Amino acid sequence: MARHLITSAIPYINGIKHLGNLVGSQLPADLYARYLRARGEEVLFLCATDEHGTPAELAAAKAGKPVEAYCAEMHEVQAEIAQGFGLSFDHFGRSSSVQNQKLTQHFAGVLADEGLIEEVTEKQVYSIADGRFLPDRYIEGTCPNCGFTSARGDQCDNCTKQLDPVDLIDARSTISGSTELEMRDTKHLFLRQSLMKDRLDAWINEKTDWPVLTTSIARKWLHDGDGLQDRGITRDLNWGVPVKRGDAEWPGMEGKVFYVWFDAPIEYIACAQEWVDAGKGQDWERWWRTDKGADDVRYTQFMGKDNVPFHTLSFPATIMGSNEPWKLVDYIKSFNYLTYDGGQFSTSRGRGVFMDQALDILPADYWRWWLLSHAPETSDAEFTWENFQTSVNKDLADVLGNFVSRITKFCRAKFGEAVPEAGEYGPAEEALIADITARVARYQDHMATIEVRKSAQELRAIWAAGNEYLQAEAPWTTFKTDPDKAAAQVRLALNLIPLYATLSAPFIPAAAQSMLEAMHVSDTTWPDDVPAALGQLAPGHGFEVPEVLFAKITDEDREAWSERFAGIRD
Ligand code: MF3
Ligand code: ZN
Repeated sequence: MARHLITSAIPYINGIKHLGNLVGSQLPADLYARYLRARGEEVLFLCATDEHGTPAELAAAKAGKPVEAYCAEMHEVQAEIAQGFGLSFDHFGRSSSVQNQKLTQHFAGVLADEGLIEEVTEKQVYSIADGRFLPDRYIEGTCPNCGFTSARGDQCDNCTKQLDPVDLIDARSTISGSTELEMRDTKHLFLRQSLMKDRLDAWINEKTDWPVLTTSIARKWLHDGDGLQDRGITRDLNWGVPVKRGDAEWPGMEGKVFYVWFDAPIEYIACAQEWVDAGKGQDWERWWRTDKGADDVRYTQFMGKDNVPFHTLSFPATIMGSNEPWKLVDYIKSFNYLTYDGGQFSTSRGRGVFMDQALDILPADYWRWWLLSHAPETSDAEFTWENFQTSVNKDLADVLGNFVSRITKFCRAKFGEAVPEAGEYGPAEEALIADITARVARYQDHMATIEVRKSAQELRAIWAAGNEYLQAEAPWTTFKTDPDKAAAQVRLALNLIPLYATLSAPFIPAAAQSMLEAMHVSDTTWPDDVPAALGQLAPGHGFEVPEVLFAKITDEDREAWSERFAGIRD
C-alpha cells in the first residue's frame, strides 16, 4: 500500500482566513486525507502558518505587538479555527520554527554549492531615520499619475497604476513618516532558476494526469515572455530566516533574511520534523527522503491557482537544484477562486465571510458541504446566500437529514427502537442495493482522483437513492397490509444510515459521527463490500432517533446574514 503525504498551502499568519482561502486548499486537502484514512491508507497530512515577510510585520505593527508575539497568538487562533472546521492535520506547524530556519539555511547553502545562487547588487530605498531599507509597501507618496497622496511604493490604490518607489512624489517612510530617503546599494541572492528550465519543463511534461489548471499555469511561466526568470530569495528585513550558508555566515548578507516565498514551502518538510519533535510521530525522513523510504510515498499538494507557480517551479527548483534525494510532489490539485456575492473575497478589505464568523453562525458541516460541493475546480465559483440556503436545505436537511429522521421515527413508532426482524428482501431492495453498490464504486473513483464536485454529486445521489426508495416503497403504507414486508423495508433503510455515515464522513464528519452514535455503531470500516455492509445492523440491534441532524436555514436567517456580511470587516 502506498503512503500518502498531503500538504495544504500554508495560510499567511496575518489575520483569519476567509471561506475562499479555505476551499482553495485546506478543506479539499482535509477531504482527501479523511477519505484515504477511511480507506485504511497511511496518511501524513500537514499544514502550517506562513509567518514571515512584510505582511506579517505590518499586521503586527497594526496590532501594536512585537512580531514574534503576534505570530504566536495568531497561530493559536488559526489552529483553533482549523479545529473548529474539523481540519484533521496531523500537525499544524509554523514556518518560523527552528526546524524550518535550519532547513532553509541548509537549502540555501547546498544551492550555493551547486552554483545556483548568484549575488547581485541592486539599488533600493533606504530610510535614514529608520535605519533600514524599505520594502515597497513601506513607502508612500503622491501618485505621479493621479495625484493620490497615499500611493504605495509598488502601486497606486486609487488609479491602480503599477509604480516604482522612485516614481512617487514626496516619498516617505510609512514607519516613521520620514522623507529622508535615499537610494543605496544592497546585495541580494538570486536563485538561478533559469538554469533549471529544461529540467523543470521535462518534469512538468511527464505530469499528464495533472489538472490542466496546474500545468497550464506552469507552462505559461516556463515559456511566456522571457521564460523562467532568476528569482531574488533574500530581503532587507528583520523578520524572517536569517541568511546563512548552511551553518556558516554569508559574507555581505548580515542582517538580511530569506524571502518569505523561499522559506514557506520548505516548511512542508520542516513541518514533518516538527511533527516528530512534538512527539506525534516518528521518522520524518521516511516521508521526505527518497533514500530513506519515501519512494513509496505519493505526495499530493493542494492550493489556489495563485500559488501554482511557486509549487510547480520555484519549490521544485529548490528541491531539484539541491541534488539531494528529497521527495518531489506527485500531484498538484489547484483551485480557481471563490467569489463572494458578485465580487472578490478580500482579506485586506475585510469582504466576505471569514472562518471564525462562519463558525459563529452555523456548525462546520454546513460550510464544509456547501464549499466542497461547489469547489471552484473548473472555473471560479460564487458564494451567494441564496445558493447556500438552497443547498443546505435541500441536500442536508431534505435529503440526508430527512431520510435519517423519517426512518428512525417510523421504526420507533411501529417496531420500537431496534432493527426489526421479520420479512424478506424483494426486487425493490435488491435493486436499491445494486444501485448503491454501483454508485459507491463511482464515488470512490471520484474521491481517489480528487474530483471534489463529482464526489459530492455522487454522494448526494447515494443519499437521494435511499429517499427515493422510501418514497416509492412507502413502508408506512405497506405496514397497513403487510407488516412483515414493511419490517424488511425498515431494516434495509436503517442499515443505510451507518453506510451513509461512513461514506459521508470525509465531507461532514460531525454529522456522520452523530449518525453512527444514534445507530450504536462504532465500526467505521469502509464498505468495500456494499451488500455486506448493508447487513451490518442485525435484527434486534438497538438505536435511537437522533436529534435533528441539519436545521433548515430560514429566509429570515438568510436575509439577516446577507445584510450582516454585506459590509466590510473592521
Ligand atoms: N501563504 C501563501 C498564501 O496563502 C501560501 C504559501 S504555500 C507555501 O498564498 F508554499 F509557501 F507553503
Ligand atoms: Zn494614482
